[in-house]
Amino acid sequence: MGIIIDVLITAAYVRLRTLLSVDRITLICLESSFILPSPAPLGSLLVQFKQFHLLSSCKLVSLYFLFIMDCELDAYFDLAVKITKTGGQLIRDRIWKTKSVKTKASESDLVTETDHEIEALFIDDITKAYPNHKFIGEETTASGKEVTLTDDPTWIIDPVDGTLNFVHGYPNACISVALVVNKTLEIGIIYNPVCEMLFTARKGRGAFLNGAPIKVSKTKELSRSLITIEFGTKKSKEESDIVMQNINILRPLTQGIRCIGSAALNMAMVALGGSDAYFEYGIHAWDYAAGTLLIQEAGGVVIDPAGGPIDLFSCRMLCASTPTLAQEISKLIKQHYPTRDL
Ligand code: IPD
Repeated sequence: MGIIIDVLITAAYVRLRTLLSVDRITLICLESSFILPSPAPLGSLLVQFKQFHLLSSCKLVSLYFLFIMDCELDAYFDLAVKITKTGGQLIRDRIWKTKSVKTKASESDLVTETDHEIEALFIDDITKAYPNHKFIGEETTASGKEVTLTDDPTWIIDPVDGTLNFVHGYPNACISVALVVNKTLEIGIIYNPVCEMLFTARKGRGAFLNGAPIKVSKTKELSRSLITIEFGTKKSKEESDIVMQNINILRPLTQGIRCIGSAALNMAMVALGGSDAYFEYGIHAWDYAAGTLLIQEAGGVVIDPAGGPIDLFSCRMLCASTPTLAQEISKLIKQHYPTRDL
């Protein structure tokens, strides 16, 4: 019975959400004046939501918190887009200028002052507004910070995805940022400021390019597909051999293979319907978290390359326009299991 009530309440909530854009504040005030003495403060909502959801028999209270959480996510999203645009300006201004470049794990694994600056921008501005939020950033992790994921709102940030491209002035570089709340992807943003392409997604609200809705292609047959593959930044013989073997397997079976040098942009292309599939081993949550939500919201699939559910910390990802195509590729390719991040 409880489950049925929950389902009905959720359905009602989804329906009512369409009203939110019309008069969200009034609805929240109405809810709050009936149920609670005053509107709850917009902090630690998850904790409050969990307590009320578990303890209260009044499902309207849960509904109330869902409304408030939705508003809170709107605010997170707006702030993240604002910071993304500020960071994007730095990439745009500097892409064809001399940079200070350092190597990380290999000669192809680079970091610039712009990577550090943009990551700091996100961490500083979000912490100022929401001190309880956590971060998993490419550069802070490279500097030794451990990757941990709790139920708290956690931002997963790649300040410049396609750093090697950025260093060379090859304009496939972007910012990729995702928000995970309660271990669920809620927000995904990928921004190529050079080409002025801003991809955004919110859980349950669709995927967009510069504000216009996007959809994956309908391609099911490998023989009609355009696929992207990356060489990655690791250069061991084992890793290089796997990439070459998979190119050799897929090349004759597809219409074409591309390599664009940015994991997040590869995923954005699948979400946009410009390509049909992409997979890579050795990438990290900051490379594929935002793209995962973007593709799911654009109607596509993101799975583990062996065919199971996607795991943001396994360093393995396969995405495609359709489940049929994803499963076909999964069965054909050689598997590789890099060390997990978590
Ligand atoms: C890299 C790019 C590249 C992919 C690597 C990533 P970075 O990210 O996305 O296309 O092949 O696996 O590490 O280092 O430019 O942020």
